[in-house]
Amino acid sequence: MTRTLAAGYTLRGDAPPLTDYLELRRVSGLSEKTPEQGVAALEGSWAFRHVVDPNGTVVGMGRIIGDGGWYFLIADMATLPEHQGRGIASAILDALLNHIRASAPAGPYVTLTADPPGRRLYESRGFTDVAPAATGMHLRLS
Ligand SMILES: CC(C)(COP(=O)(O)OP(=O)(O)OC[C@H]1O[C@@H](n2cnc3c(N)ncnc32)[C@H](O)[C@@H]1OP(=O)(O)O)[C@@H](O)C(=O)NCCC(=O)NCCS
Repeated sequence: MTRTLAAGYTLRGDAPPLTDYLELRRVSGLSEKTPEQGVAALEGSWAFRHVVDPNGTVVGMGRIIGDGGWYFLIADMATLPEHQGRGIASAILDALLNHIRASAPAGPYVTLTADPPGRRLYESRGFTDVAPAATGMHLRLS
């Protein structure tokens, strides 16, 4: 099903300010990042979307890290807790996927690592588990 963005919210086609990016990650329960990491995220993404409330407060975001050719990674999907369940992440994800459809050559591969809160959203948009054919892996360097 497709959840509609609740009235009063505005979807924007760019990155949020750095302070909002860092705060949204922290408040939504994602790992905290430094300003240096945040600047690189804002400047180095292939696409970014965020949503503001009627006061102009940034309440949700999501982005794509990609090569523009075929490989696209969805990241930083986050909505402030008090604004969750109002279609904000759905609108952001749909906008990001539509941007890939409109801008990338045929046959794009879209991937993400799904934390439990996002699984239902991603499945509703057609994402499937890579297992058992493959295993998601990660490496944290110090
Ligand atoms: C995952 C997340 C981004 C969803 O944001 P959201 O704006 O609330 O999402 P939406 O309102 O568009 O709802 C999308 C789906 O999320 C789920 N959802 C949203 N709010 C929920 C809530 N309070 N409780 C349970 N499920 C919820 C629903 O399953 C919904 O699907 P539905 O439309 O079939 O009901 C948000 O929960 C979040 O920021 N979580 C913490 C950070 C995180 O884990 N991010 C994902 C990283 S992979």
